[in-house]
Amino acid sequence: MKKITKAVFPVAGLGTRFLPATKAIPKEMLPVIDKPLIEYAVEEAVLAGIEEIIFITSHTKRSIQDHFDKNLELEEKLLKSDKIEAFQKINRKIFQNTTFTYVKQKSQKGLGHAILQAKHLIQNESFAILLADDLIINDPSATQQLINVALKTNTSVVGLNKVPKEHISRYGVISSADIPKHEKLFLLNGIIEKPQSNPPSNLAVFGRYVLSHHIFDYLEKIDPGFAGEIQLTDAIKLMLEDHDINGYLYDGIKFDCGSKEGYVKAIAHLASDMLS
Ligand code: G1P
Repeated sequence: MKKITKAVFPVAGLGTRFLPATKAIPKEMLPVIDKPLIEYAVEEAVLAGIEEIIFITSHTKRSIQDHFDKNLELEEKLLKSDKIEAFQKINRKIFQNTTFTYVKQKSQKGLGHAILQAKHLIQNESFAILLADDLIINDPSATQQLINVALKTNTSVVGLNKVPKEHISRYGVISSADIPKHEKLFLLNGIIEKPQSNPPSNLAVFGRYVLSHHIFDYLEKIDPGFAGEIQLTDAIKLMLEDHDINGYLYDGIKFDCGSKEGYVKAIAHLASDMLS
């Protein structure tokens, strides 16, 4: 497998769970302390060696583009008044060689449909997917851990988290016949999106993937699944018929910032240093 340099960020969702906050502001732009949620995930990707960030976006998400674009007027003002620290916060060194690409998803037909919009930009490479709602704190990051496993095993890898029974129906859930090769790596033999009964395991897909470009062939073949949407999970399931795919229980403190509870917990966690 070649070096992984591209990451797809699906950010076209409506953010209904955070209304009214998300009426005029994309949910990805909600601040976690002083940084928008999306910047945590972009930072994670770039530090893991990603050079091109591909946002799958919609017409209501203009501010994400503005956020990763230059604001020359503000930069000039900050420099003139010697506010170097503030200048560095809006002109981050780590993003200097990063390309930001935006693809508009004209209709919202699900996560799988969103990923399919990046097909022409990925071509024959493996790539990362980051769902920015899932904020994961660790060093090495979740993305870095998955990239390492993908390169080592030469397979696609989905990031996993152990989830209690009462919450498992919110996630894509994997099954694995194998005794794990080591306690964190699971060779998939099945995956199902949001099982409403009899989940095959307590291992949920959580916010990070490294997939080979073959996924696009399967995304093009599948019918709408759970909630009438084109599900990435269903394409992964079909891909399993022809390709090995591993699940990796990555390390990190995980916050599901798509829910209010997770969002508040993320803020409380990051704020605890400030309060002590
Ligand atoms: C998506 C995926 C699901 C995954 C979850 C968390 O669901 O479809 O398989 O487990 O993200 O990463 P969503 O939370 O967008 O409904």
